[in-house]
Amino acid sequence: MLSSFTALHHLWLCYFTFLSLQLCARALPQQVGYGYRLVSLQESSSGGGLIGYLQVKQSSATYGPDIPHLRLFVKHETQDRLRVHITDAEKERWEVPYNLLPREQPPASGSSYGKSSSSPFTTSEYAGDELIFSYIADPFGFAVRRKSNGQTLFNSSYGAIVFKDQYLEISTQLPESAALYGLGENTQPGGIRLQPNDPYTLYTTDISAINLNTDLYGSHPVYMDLRNVEGEASAHAVLLLNSNGMDVFYRGSSLTYKVIGGVFDFYFFPGPTPLAVVEQYTSLIGRPAPMPYWALGFHQCRWGYRNLSVVEGVVEGYKNARIPLDVIWNDDDHMDAAKDFTLDPVNYPRPKLLAFLDRIHSQGMKYIVLIDPGIAVNSTYGVFQRGMAKDVFIKYEGEPYLAQVWPGPVYFPDFLYSETVSWWVDEIARFHKLVPVDGLWIDMNEASNFCTGKCEIRKDYLCPDPNSTTPWICCLDCKNITNTRWDDPPYKINASGIEAPLGYKTIATSAIHHYGILEYNAHSIYGFSQAIATHKALLGLEGKRPFILSRSTFVGSGAYAAHWTGDNKGTWDDLRYSISTMLNFGIFGMPMVGSDICGFYPQPTEELCNRWIELGAFYPFSRDHANFASPRQELYQWDSVAKSARNALGLRYKLLPYLYTLNYEAHISGAPIARPVFFSFLNFTASYGLSTQFLLGSSVMVSPVLKQGASSVKALFPPGTWYSLFDLTQAVVSKDERYITLDAPLNEVNVHVYQNTILPMQQGGMISKEARTTPFTLVVTFPLGATQGDSKGNVYVDDDERPEMKLVEGEATYVDFYASVREKRVTVWSEVKMGTFSLKKGLTIEKVCVLGLGGTGKGLAIEVDGQPLNDIANIYFRESPTGHVEKLEGGNKRNS
Ligand code: GLC
Repeated sequence: MLSSFTALHHLWLCYFTFLSLQLCARALPQQVGYGYRLVSLQESSSGGGLIGYLQVKQSSATYGPDIPHLRLFVKHETQDRLRVHITDAEKERWEVPYNLLPREQPPASGSSYGKSSSSPFTTSEYAGDELIFSYIADPFGFAVRRKSNGQTLFNSSYGAIVFKDQYLEISTQLPESAALYGLGENTQPGGIRLQPNDPYTLYTTDISAINLNTDLYGSHPVYMDLRNVEGEASAHAVLLLNSNGMDVFYRGSSLTYKVIGGVFDFYFFPGPTPLAVVEQYTSLIGRPAPMPYWALGFHQCRWGYRNLSVVEGVVEGYKNARIPLDVIWNDDDHMDAAKDFTLDPVNYPRPKLLAFLDRIHSQGMKYIVLIDPGIAVNSTYGVFQRGMAKDVFIKYEGEPYLAQVWPGPVYFPDFLYSETVSWWVDEIARFHKLVPVDGLWIDMNEASNFCTGKCEIRKDYLCPDPNSTTPWICCLDCKNITNTRWDDPPYKINASGIEAPLGYKTIATSAIHHYGILEYNAHSIYGFSQAIATHKALLGLEGKRPFILSRSTFVGSGAYAAHWTGDNKGTWDDLRYSISTMLNFGIFGMPMVGSDICGFYPQPTEELCNRWIELGAFYPFSRDHANFASPRQELYQWDSVAKSARNALGLRYKLLPYLYTLNYEAHISGAPIARPVFFSFLNFTASYGLSTQFLLGSSVMVSPVLKQGASSVKALFPPGTWYSLFDLTQAVVSKDERYITLDAPLNEVNVHVYQNTILPMQQGGMISKEARTTPFTLVVTFPLGATQGDSKGNVYVDDDERPEMKLVEGEATYVDFYASVREKRVTVWSEVKMGTFSLKKGLTIEKVCVLGLGGTGKGLAIEVDGQPLNDIANIYFRESPTGHVEKLEGGNKRNS
């Protein structure tokens, strides 16, 4: 036994004759406006930073009049965060609310324009620890440069800055070799690396994920830029914190933002590693929410579980097929006429539902249900009545804005309004008394509306419900509105990828939230604000760690919710796309992400479903979900899929301690759970566009089959030794940038662990509650044939009940594991960072598998925590003469 875990006035142009070498005011490619000139720059009298004023040079009328005076605020907010904020100097403009996404507030607009006596800033550069801000005055442009290597990361002098009420434009120049990632949510057929393309349009929209290169459910105006100059790679990120609709044109050597409102609020994060980038990014936007342990188990859902017996049968089906299952879900089927927080009295009678929940809860299983933001307009419905009494809804021409979603006519709650939040918290508490759910799924929150524009109820008209024999009151007259500058803005973003009005199938953009906030501005934060309110509600219930799944997301949503990639299709292409979207969300600070396994609709083939569970078993959020019109696709519906599921999910459940530790690391540092391969192999340029494989943490690599009819997979292995996690006697030794063909019969997926790793695994099980109490095995890996080397790993353990995930003495344990091999002596030791925490049964390490040692093994001594060990499994291998795939000879395989 190794151990137990008790164990940012006026100075006129003369000050600006110097040009930064990095800046070059070239012929402007964009001729919408003629830019601004800097008329003053001074050190901020309070709080640091620079404050400057810009004046429009020559007005252009395209897309509306220019805003004459702008205020510039620049500040190195931390040693690794530079902010450049540009807004109207005279009037306040819409910005992402500071209470929603807490951050430093720039000096108020209008307050100091022309009045300050602070000292002028007379040098061309403003340097921080790693980033340098420089500028030219006329026309005004700024650059951001990396101190350590002099690289220009951002250079706005590529184009004129345009700043109008409803149109903002700014560009940056990029080296052609830069690899860019992010700018979502978007399904990218070209893989994770952004391709010069049609614009990346960001505007939260209910468009299914099968639509390529168009604005989808979330808005994340952030990109990571990875550059490799002469073998030295470095990454940085740029966030434009703006919630208005935008088109971002990436042209290979430039990037241009065309934004229809708000301000320029840029943040630059220097990295230089991708992990440092996400660390710096999430320190601003909020660290990813900690997930409960069970959320890392497998989830089953379907739209169309018509009654409780069907749900019970699904749970039974998993049990009988010996496929792990932690969480069973209901779409809107449990609801009475699709109304939130209700139960269908016939098909989901409460007493029976409660009995079912008692049963599954006693086994450690969990239950999650869907809620949509649209509240049914129905005078006999309590949720609606209380909402009306508290005036919680978004308004249009003074009345609650009428829309149409699943229940028919609905009003949308305004989650930016404090009274709405308290109403919502109360409704969730009431519902929880009715049904003790373990988490909530907030869907359709872009917000989705089946109507475009202004709606009126046609009481006489009933629509047929495809999902039921009873017609439903659903049809409203939908009148398109284009009579306001919000509904018909001067610049049309490429919303929905079609010639559609901005308010296409969502809340009319001229609708008004409380405090006079325009939907036009706040549109893309709707789902974000709902997630915050829902999180508050769940926290207040039992003091347990909340689990929320949200379809629509924005910068910062990861601190509250998990995400799935929305309505996909059961196709091989969709299987492949899921990887890039998942990896992007890791960069967006939302590491708990996955796609509907086997596809949402219409129906997967058996073969596809096999391959999908083999991939989906390694999504951070692993859930099978389907549309009511699809045939049933629970994993046990096909014998072959069941077999693949047992295999792949079997490994997932053994890896739960590793995944939970990654969940902890995500929470404390923003590190994605599922990562692009280059996160660990930064100079391995071959991996920069790799979108068919990915890493879990730093060293477990998943290489799924993504092609129909394949029984092998070509996988790229960064140099080094990789051990198969399904068969530790199989290793891949990669010496160069070559794809290696691996066997991948229908029921098998390739998952490898890298050398120099200590991977904590347990024995798995049918449910995470049990799996987490089983003894640990430490898989210790060295390069094949090593006679000396070091490995390390770690594990975080807690009881997952507390909302916070922190190292609190007595409640959580974090252990670092180390191993070294020197002169035929393997030494393994652990350092408990904190913790006398133990689960009731006690956690023990019963096996240590040491992989890759050279020699015959004779005379090999293993010492663990200072004790010589004889009963530790030791698999050691002969040095590979040729490299690549090796079937390895086990030596002393005791206890393996
Ligand atoms: C939306 C969701 C889907 C859900 C359906 C019915 O299409 O994306 O997952 O099943 O609504 O609620």
